Order: sequence, then C-alpha cells, then structure tokens
Amino acid sequence: MAIALIVNHGKRTVDAEPDKPLLWALREDLDLRGTKFGCGAGLCGACTVILDGVAVRSCQTPISEAVGKQIITIEAVTTLPAGKRVVDAWVDLDVPQCGYCQAGQIMSATALLTRTPKPGHDDIVAGMSGNICRCATYLRIQKAIRKAAG
Ligand code: FES
Repeated sequence: MAIALIVNHGKRTVDAEPDKPLLWALREDLDLRGTKFGCGAGLCGACTVILDGVAVRSCQTPISEAVGKQIITIEAVTTLPAGKRVVDAWVDLDVPQCGYCQAGQIMSATALLTRTPKPGHDDIVAGMSGNICRCATYLRIQKAIRKAAG
C-alpha cells in the first residue's frame, strides 16, 4: 500500500506494508543508504534516525509509527542546527575509525544536543549509551559532542 512520509523535509511515498521497519523503507524504497543496518534487533544503534526530534532505532520502528512525523536521516542532519555543529566537530576531531556506526552516533548526538544544549559528562554517556562502536571511538565521540556544545 502507498504510505506517505515526511523525510528530510520533503513528502515521500513508499509502497510497503505498514509494519515494514523504517530502516528498510529508507534504504530500499527511498535509496537513503546512509542509515546503516547493524544488528537488526535494537541493540547497536547503527540504524538511528531522528523522529520528531527524538533518536529512534529505525530497525525497530514500523513505518506506521513514522506517519505524520518529521523523519530526519544522516543525509539531512546538517539541516538541523545541532546536527551541523555535530558534523563539523566530527570532522575537526577525526572521530570515525571504520565509520560504520558513525551515522547512528551522529544522529544520537544531534538529538542529545537538541534536547540538552550543554550536556554534562553523565548526560553524554547516558545520551549515547544506545550506540555501540566496535572500534571504540567513544572518547573522541564524547570530545566531539563537548566541542559541538560549545
Ligand atoms: Fe537497529 Fe542495530 S540495526 S539497533
């Protein structure tokens, strides 16, 4: 069935079942492949997108839950004020190693700074606790978030 979504500030339509995970609608139907598949089980955070300002795991979010909400993916994260600062800090501090998890990390960091503009260490640890990095770039991630917070 045709389902209308608002993705990266534009109207898009996907032809899919309402229970299809948003991750696969983004990647397969809309060709937005920056959002990554990691575990598919809600454990790693690689698939994180922002839904009405909140970081969610798109592998665990059916399309039906996203209808009528603003979906922002890594492709448009720099259109968000916090997202632009996060990406700039990520580049400045050369955060990624293999890079696979970083789209999800950036989305979570952007959601964190949007709701908590000046996060303390504990806020950062809690806000990023759902995103796993197998290269263990955590210290650079934390430093970049502090830099983006200004
Ligand atoms: Fe969604 Fe791992 S792929 S949490």
